[in-house]
Amino acid sequence: MSHLHTRWAGCQVEAHEKITYSTNQRVKQLADQGAPEGTLVVADVQEGGKGRRGRAWVAPVPGTNIAMSFLLRPEIDPSRASMMTLIAAMAVRAAIADVTGMDTKIKWPNDVIVNKKKVCGILTEMTMEEEYIQSVVVGIGINVHNESFPEELKEKATSLLIETGGGHFSRAEITAKVLEHFEEYYEKFIADGDLRRLQEEYNSCLTAIGGKVSILAPEKTWEGISRGINEEGALLVEKEDGSIEKITSGEVSVRGI
Ligand code: BTN
Repeated sequence: MSHLHTRWAGCQVEAHEKITYSTNQRVKQLADQGAPEGTLVVADVQEGGKGRRGRAWVAPVPGTNIAMSFLLRPEIDPSRASMMTLIAAMAVRAAIADVTGMDTKIKWPNDVIVNKKKVCGILTEMTMEEEYIQSVVVGIGINVHNESFPEELKEKATSLLIETGGGHFSRAEITAKVLEHFEEYYEKFIADGDLRRLQEEYNSCLTAIGGKVSILAPEKTWEGISRGINEEGALLVEKEDGSIEKITSGEVSVRGI
């Protein structure tokens, strides 16, 4: 991480050739031991990675993926921790643009998309001490040099290599750029306590904005028009009767990219 231009993001780095569990879990362990904000864990191979909704996220081939997790200790209301996912998606998008020149989209809340396929997923996890946040761990997985995907993922997943027709990129450079952009966005968020300064930029790269989305909630599935996020990070969806529903739950799945 020699070319890192940050003040605190990546201030301490632990790099694993292989981690049998998850970089998020490792950062949580370091957080318990008093690690400072910005502590970063990266793994070339991650065997026990986790995705959202209890899914697995593995990165088994050396040199192929970025698996990175870093520690935040924000003094914010715990209900706002999920906004870190949105900030991280913006940072990944900006980093990919810097390094590859490629334009990507964000699928609310946590996927970075190119050509309607996922190139990056983000898992933000929080630990609490009584009613306060003890740590927020932002975990980012980016498909960089994957040449192909298993049959069940082929329609959904892609990599920077595939999308650039064989390009090879420095994973260290992408990682450093993610941290730099994250730090910049995060400081704006902390200054305001919400996403008001980032909302417009986020919405400008959101998939399906102004288009039809299906909301798959546990109780029912419904359709509406995506109107983008508000300053709290909720997705605003216009219903048939013109009313606006705020979608906040990470348990809801949004389809329609
Ligand atoms: C998702 O799309 O479901 C989220 C995937 C998040 C994967 C990353 S890889 C680095 C970090 N460590 C983990 O175990 N998960 C995240």
